[in-house]
This record gives sequence, structure tokens and C-alpha cells, in this order.
Amino acid sequence: MSRKLRFGLIGLGEIAYSSTGHVLRQTANAEMIVGMDPLADIAASYAATFGIPCSTNLDDVLNHPDVDAVIISTPHNLHVPLGIQAARAGKHVIVEKPMATTLEDADALIAACKEAGVLCSSKEGSVRYQPATAKAKELIEQGAIGELMATQVSGASNKPPSYWTGGYTGRVQTTWRKSKLESGGGVLMMNYIYDFYRLRYITGQEIVRVFAEFGTYRTPVEVEDFITLTLRYANGALGTWMASSCAPGASKAGARGTKASDNRIFGTAGQIVFDNNALLVYTDNDVEGLTPGEWTQLSFPQQSDNYAYQVYFEQFAEAVFAGREPDIPCEEGRKTLEVLLAAYRSGETHEPVTLGAVDDKR
Ligand SMILES: NC(=O)c1ccc[n+]([C@@H]2O[C@H](COP(=O)([O-])OP(=O)(O)OC[C@H]3O[C@@H](n4cnc5c(N)ncnc54)[C@H](O)[C@@H]3O)[C@@H](O)[C@H]2O)c1
Repeated sequence: MSRKLRFGLIGLGEIAYSSTGHVLRQTANAEMIVGMDPLADIAASYAATFGIPCSTNLDDVLNHPDVDAVIISTPHNLHVPLGIQAARAGKHVIVEKPMATTLEDADALIAACKEAGVLCSSKEGSVRYQPATAKAKELIEQGAIGELMATQVSGASNKPPSYWTGGYTGRVQTTWRKSKLESGGGVLMMNYIYDFYRLRYITGQEIVRVFAEFGTYRTPVEVEDFITLTLRYANGALGTWMASSCAPGASKAGARGTKASDNRIFGTAGQIVFDNNALLVYTDNDVEGLTPGEWTQLSFPQQSDNYAYQVYFEQFAEAVFAGREPDIPCEEGRKTLEVLLAAYRSGETHEPVTLGAVDDKR
């Protein structure tokens, strides 16, 4: 039988319980063998559901001789200190998104993993395995939209008060999501980090200037519940962004992917619109599967987020076995984080923040 990468889980709350545990059961080349959470009842219920030993003691994971790698699913400000401890214990590290809440922390984790000779990966990059995302990247590489001119992301959700103290399922009663220090940010950091990574990945362009305005309108929390952004990409392309977690009438879990969201990529020769599990593509060019001068709808099988997570864990295990970098090393997580933190800085100072050189010829 081929080898499986053996994961230890650190943090057994909502994502570990509702997603990771089930995904790893389906993953051919990986498995979880032990878990820990400081809350005894959470550790006990995880052990009962998934049949692995779970305790409240971090050493039970980090000193476990059979653990190859850890998955850290905790409040955001703990990703880095726990990741550094895991790296120093010789374990490869996967951190849930965002990989850190500050760039200093991100750098410290990357350095610790390098020093220990272990791999480090940030999980928001799993969106690249969603079929529509992968296809959009392929179409852009085939020249379907020409040169990137602009991107638009717009989405609204309406998170109920219970979300802020218990997530979507209420598995753990906690206040970290409300705290700027512990979460690093609101709807942008928590939810739209995926879209930032997705756009960077699909377009191959870095965001080099950002101007943001944000506020907290309907939620008793320290973080933003509404944010708007204007962006510049390195090639001079533009971007707009509007995201909310407090929009009356929107769905609870987020309108990304529902009718209330409208995400588009505009190029000099075409346009791509994300429409649930479909892409609507317009092109002026000759591209296989598309008709020049017309809109084409490309549909994909309904895939849950867990599908992309499974591919993500598989590729991470393959990378460990092959002794190569994972598809999404933590350096990628850092680049995405840098843009998010620049947005918050801009919103606080009411000034644009520049991260790199812009082709301003346009
Ligand atoms: N819930 C989701 O749908 C979802 C989806 C994608 C990603 N994520 C990410 O997963 C991570 C965890 O989110 P969640 O929703 O599961 O939160 P959660 O609050 O439900 O669970 C976090 C768990 O971490 C534990 N914890 C706290 N301090 C710890 C420590 N020092 N060591 C080990 N464990 C500790 C808590 O006791 C809790 O059980 C976050 O990065 C979040 O952004 C969550």
C-alpha cells in the first residue's frame, strides 16, 4: 500500500469538525492520526466522531513520532506561534487562512520552516483547485480576454449575531472573530482573502496599489463589516471591490457565489463573469470552445469547498513525498496578506498604499 502523510490536527473547532476531518477521510495519500484542542469537551467530541486520540495537550501532537505534518485551525493570531513550535518539532505545517495577522509574523513562520527544513503552506490557496477558477486561468493564458484591464469583486452576506460568538455551527463558543487582535480583520480578512488569492492566481498580476474605505455599521465587533477598495495591478489594470457581512437581505453564509455577488474580469479582448458554478465568457479572439464575438456559458459540476480542500491536501502530501515545494507555499500566503494589510492601513489613514511599481502608461 502506498504511504499516507500523517497529520496531527491543532485546533478542533468548526472547520476541523465540519470539513477537515471528513475531507481527510476521503484523501487517498493522507490521514489524521491525532488531534488537540485546549477545550476538553471539543477534543472529546472530535475523538468520538472521528475515532482518533485527541487531548488538550499540544505535546501529544508535536512529540508524536508518527506525525509528519500539522494542520493549524485556530484563531488567526495563533497560527504563527503554533506553526513555529510545530516547525521546530520537525513537522510540516499547513495553516488555515490567513497565515498570519502581521507581516512580521508571516516572515517569522516562513523563516522557522526554512530553518527546520519543513514545508509551509497556507490553505486559502485551495481555491485554485475549484474547476471554474482553474478554467478561468486557462482561458486567460490562452488569450481569451487579451490583456487584463480591470477586475470587479462585489459580494454581500448577512452574518447573524450568533456567527460572531460561534461561527456558522456554534460548535465552539468564543469571541475571537470579533477581536481585531485575534482575527486581524473582518469580512475582508475572513472571507474575501480567497478572492484576493484567486485574482492574483488567475490573472498572474500582483496588486501594487490599494485605496480602501471601511466601517462597522450593523455589528457589535471591532472589525469591519463593510469595505470598499480601489486597486491597481502591476500591469496598470484597475480593480474595484465591495464586500459586506451585514447586508440585510443577503444570505447568512455569504453571497459570494449567489445572485448578490458579481465578480468579473475585463480584458482588452473579452470578459469573464463568475456565475455560481459557471463561467460566462465573451471573447473577440479564436479560442477553442468559445465563439468569437459571442458569450459562451461554461458549466462545471457542483463541487463543494471540500473538493478543493481534498485536492489541496493531496498535493501537499505529494510535495512532502517528492521533497518539493507545495503548490501554495506560505510565501504566497504572505503576498495575499500583504495586500489585505495594506487595505486596512489605507482605510485607517484614508491614503492609498503602494506596494510595488505600477505600469502607469495608461
Ligand atoms: N469555520 C469555517 O467555515 C472556516 C472555513 C475556512 C477556514 N476557516 C479558518 O479555520 C480557522 C479556525 O476557524 P474555526 O471556524 O474552526 O474556529 P473555531 O473557533 O470554531 O475553532 C478554533 C479552535 O481553536 C482552538 N484553540 C484556541 N487556542 C488554541 C491553542 N492555543 N491551541 C490549539 N487550539 C486552540 C479553540 O479551542 C477552537 O476549538 C481560522 O483560521 C478560520 O479562518 C474556518
